Amino acid sequence: MNRLTKRLTQQLGKPSQGLWGWLVNRYLEKKNRFLEVNAVKLCNIQPESVVLEVGFGPGLGLQEAAKRITYPKGKLYGVDYSDYMHSVTSRRLQADIRTGKVTLFLGSVEHIPLEDNVVDRVFHCNCYYFWPNQRAGSKEIHRVMKPESNPSPFRIPRSNLPPPPSQEIRSEFNHPLGENIFLTLLLNNYFESVPSSS
Ligand SMILES: C[S@@+](CC[C@H](N)C(=O)[O-])C[C@H]1O[C@@H](n2cnc3c(N)ncnc32)[C@H](O)[C@@H]1O
Repeated sequence: MNRLTKRLTQQLGKPSQGLWGWLVNRYLEKKNRFLEVNAVKLCNIQPESVVLEVGFGPGLGLQEAAKRITYPKGKLYGVDYSDYMHSVTSRRLQADIRTGKVTLFLGSVEHIPLEDNVVDRVFHCNCYYFWPNQRAGSKEIHRVMKPESNPSPFRIPRSNLPPPPSQEIRSEFNHPLGENIFLTLLLNNYFESVPSSS
């Protein structure tokens, strides 16, 4: 992998303040709105749902989810370990953060600062392959979700499964290649079943 690709791949995994982070943020804003909006649609969020996005990046998915939630019964959380993405999304959602409807956590998916069994819906896009410990991340998501919600957030039609990570991401983050890698990850880690349809 050349230095440019390596730099870009690292920034996709954790964008930082500076030119590279800024470029990656612009790229995510431009390219991934459609994906984030559709992930939110698949979650079937209700006005009183408690929702979490992991790896929210520029915050477009949270912005979309916020439209569907009525505070204070409904509540929206996001966790991302990039300082830069945290500050970009804090600005984007400042009005909803002020009222308490949205709370952003700066941290990694293995340590979500929420009680057990409080979340109805979890979504994330373009993120699981960057997790330093995927087993711990899956376990943590499972912990914060209400038991009756499992595994509805992952009821993803097969055709909507995220594509496997690129060659560059796989080699930078030591990610194994495989089909339906996301389903396999969840099934191997705490989720008993992941309904899906073709
Ligand atoms: C490629 S970006 C995707 C952002 C957004 N979801 C999108 O699709 O446009 C990956 C995001 O996940 C975050 N991320 C990666 N690993 C993470 C982890 N272990 N815990 C929390 N956030 C993580 C990164 O900081 C980055 O904001």
